[in-house]
Amino acid sequence: MIVRPCWVFCLLALGTSLGAAPAPMDLRCEYATDPLGIDLAAPRLSWRVETEEAGAAQTAYRVLVASSLERLSRDEGDLWDSGRVMSPECANVAYAGIPLSSRQACWWKVRAWGEQGNSIGFSAPHSFEMALLRPDDWRADWIGPPPAWPGRTLYFRSAFHLSAAPTRARLYATGLGYYEIFVNGRKQGEAVLDPAHTDVSKRVLYSTYDAKTSLQAGDNVVAAIVGTGWEDTHLLRAQLEIECGDGSKVLVATGKFQELPEWQVATGPILSDSIYGGEFYDARLERKGWDLPGYAPAPGGDRLNQWVKPLVARGPGGRMQAQPLEPIQVMGEISSRRVTEAKPGVYVADFGQNHAGWRRLRVRGPAGTKVILRHAELLNGDGTVDQSNLRIAEATDRYVLNGGGLETWSPRFTYHGYRYVQVEGWPGVPAPDALTAMVIRSAVPERGQFECSDELLNRIHRLVGWTERSNLYGVPTDCPQRDERMGWLNDLGARSEELVYNFEAERFLENFARDITDAQNPATGAITDTAPFEGGREPADPVSVSYLLIPTLLHQHYSDRRVLTDNYEGMRRWVDYLTSRSADGLLPYSYYGDWAPPIGEAVAGSIGSGAVSAKTPGDLVSTAFYFYSAKLMSQIASETGHSGDQAAYSQLADKIRAAFHRAYWHDQIGGYGSGNQACNCLALYMGLVPPELRPRVVASLLRELERTHFHLTTGNLCTKYLLEVLSAEGHLDAALRVATQTSYPSWGYMLDQGATTLWERWEQQTGGGMNSHNHAMLGSIGSWLYRWVAGLALDESPGAARHFVFQPPALAGISQARASLPTLWGVAEIRWRREGQILDVVVRVPWNCTATVRLPGQPPREVASGMHKFDAHLAGP
Ligand code: BGC
Repeated sequence: MIVRPCWVFCLLALGTSLGAAPAPMDLRCEYATDPLGIDLAAPRLSWRVETEEAGAAQTAYRVLVASSLERLSRDEGDLWDSGRVMSPECANVAYAGIPLSSRQACWWKVRAWGEQGNSIGFSAPHSFEMALLRPDDWRADWIGPPPAWPGRTLYFRSAFHLSAAPTRARLYATGLGYYEIFVNGRKQGEAVLDPAHTDVSKRVLYSTYDAKTSLQAGDNVVAAIVGTGWEDTHLLRAQLEIECGDGSKVLVATGKFQELPEWQVATGPILSDSIYGGEFYDARLERKGWDLPGYAPAPGGDRLNQWVKPLVARGPGGRMQAQPLEPIQVMGEISSRRVTEAKPGVYVADFGQNHAGWRRLRVRGPAGTKVILRHAELLNGDGTVDQSNLRIAEATDRYVLNGGGLETWSPRFTYHGYRYVQVEGWPGVPAPDALTAMVIRSAVPERGQFECSDELLNRIHRLVGWTERSNLYGVPTDCPQRDERMGWLNDLGARSEELVYNFEAERFLENFARDITDAQNPATGAITDTAPFEGGREPADPVSVSYLLIPTLLHQHYSDRRVLTDNYEGMRRWVDYLTSRSADGLLPYSYYGDWAPPIGEAVAGSIGSGAVSAKTPGDLVSTAFYFYSAKLMSQIASETGHSGDQAAYSQLADKIRAAFHRAYWHDQIGGYGSGNQACNCLALYMGLVPPELRPRVVASLLRELERTHFHLTTGNLCTKYLLEVLSAEGHLDAALRVATQTSYPSWGYMLDQGATTLWERWEQQTGGGMNSHNHAMLGSIGSWLYRWVAGLALDESPGAARHFVFQPPALAGISQARASLPTLWGVAEIRWRREGQILDVVVRVPWNCTATVRLPGQPPREVASGMHKFDAHLAGP
């Protein structure tokens, strides 16, 4: 083998110094570090070992879970001692000890054994704490406004006394809609726009806070603000459980309990709040100290300005669930690039980046001055904001100054998708730091990193990243700006793989899979176009394969089997529902199909501002997805031990495949349906083409690409399949040409027109129709960059676990690339560089994992964990 000087590479900082005795680390319970508020009978535990030792893997483990740290330090697992389990599993190992009770504090550690049976040692101790497991653990009732109060933001408070400093305090709380909760004026947790959006008739998510350090001996206050969120109600349910140093126990709970501290409710400075509309805040109505002890409300005022007793209200009916996903948080800030005066007294701030969140303002001026802030993605020709594509979303905040010096304000219960803010009514001229954008989203950590020598591809990767960052709001939303912001299942069919590569979305997506199951029709098994069901139709379009795909991806990336078993019945019933609508293996209903292709390919005047494809028949698309769903169902059945179902769905898939071919194959064109890109790449990607015909279909696809000069004609779904199919069929160069186009329609075209997030349409449009400029569905290219340009993929074959595939390409236009992907076992990484005919490759296989390395022109090789260097001589120019 030729040894070539390798470029300098430094693997990600990995924390453990060489030579230190390795021990399991990064201990997680339900994917979180030391979580409070777990409400599952068998929480899952994960760990990994960081070592430079090549080929290191786990052969056995022992988990200890104890009821106290002392016991754990004596190696006593009084809750669970797994004993020495001969297994390589270190991800999502389910607790199997004595039943855990509500509020139970659990301390745990793990020991692992390596290849030669050598002990890797015990980890440091970690913890998790159980939440409220039984409905009757909730002493608190829902409380809301007195009768005939206007439906507007409410302020709740309860004052109470502690005879000694607390030794332990837990606050369990939620609201309908959004809420924020405070103890002695200190906000609990960092969540905003909490709880995550669910169908509250099925599940209401609550959070657990450690309130100890916010409490004190003597007088205390717990207070909450409840906004509208996704609900029409303004209800609070909160329960603060305190143990004090003198042995006393205090419970503060919403409701009408004679023996408990009382609650009061009032309105306040937030006059209205709406996710789409914005927030109206009158700072003159602030009540100083309302959330602190010693507050004495000013007497008088009208009915609404007084503190009164809240009423006990009927809850929404859903079960209370400890919020299993990361809350929405402020994740960053952007300063305004420039502020221009578009018209006299009308200023427009440009943040340079389309994103989702809100902006903080800093202002001084006379009391009663009203500042209006209009948010938009685009500008009109005169420099004012263009809000026409927001449809009925007003996206406008209003702030009335109290005149007390420097005032700093951000809204609480709305958010906007915007790049520009138009300011009206500002006292004077806004200073450069008057407005700061706050980037907000579910606090899902970013995951993969990608970079290559082609700056256009890097820019596309960033475009995808910013679009996803704007669309993680408790559910994966379609867009953040107009009157929509929903989890569209059709978009997710294409987008979820990219999401899994770019974000640690396992908790987020597992919750979303549950949202889909929650929305399922109990009688028919039909699911809905959006989850929670806020728009679109029931039954969902048959393209809604994301219901099966998301659990499949989570299983591949995180060894998460529970997401498969938890939703198994639902997924099965959905596939059966599709069967009930099918005739001889074909599925004749479709609403969206390969949605929003280039406008010339769509039916003029069709729904979605002309977004229905004219050339990709809906029934063909539906049947292909019906096949895909049956195929995935068979795989899921196999993975979860349902062998009868595995065979049945595999037979169903065979039947659909045959029917598809009979119905849509056209021998004279060597392809399917209309023979356009979408029809052929769909058939190829799904595996619907008989092996002997694949070369002909690929050839048709390539001819079609020649005709369009390597421009795509696909919509939200088939765009993904086009790139994937070309790459898998050995035409990565063609895929690259499509991906790096800069003329319409292409990602490069969007960038050239100034896009900083992905558009909904391939065209640059505005006006009242569907033309979001921050729409995640065309981001499916994001996973293609990892898988095919960098060459880092997971082994997707059934039964494969902890196995990666590294396939650095021999691509004429790209001289180097690198990608890394943190996993539960460590970081998987590839770096390659091409010089002339030599390809230098370095891969890193995480601990306890294996990989197949496919170098161009060489037989595949299997490698164990650790770093590996390869050189390959490339044939040809
Ligand atoms: C959403 C899309 C979705 C479509 C389906 C739209 O309103 O924004 O992302 O694919 O509806 O009809």
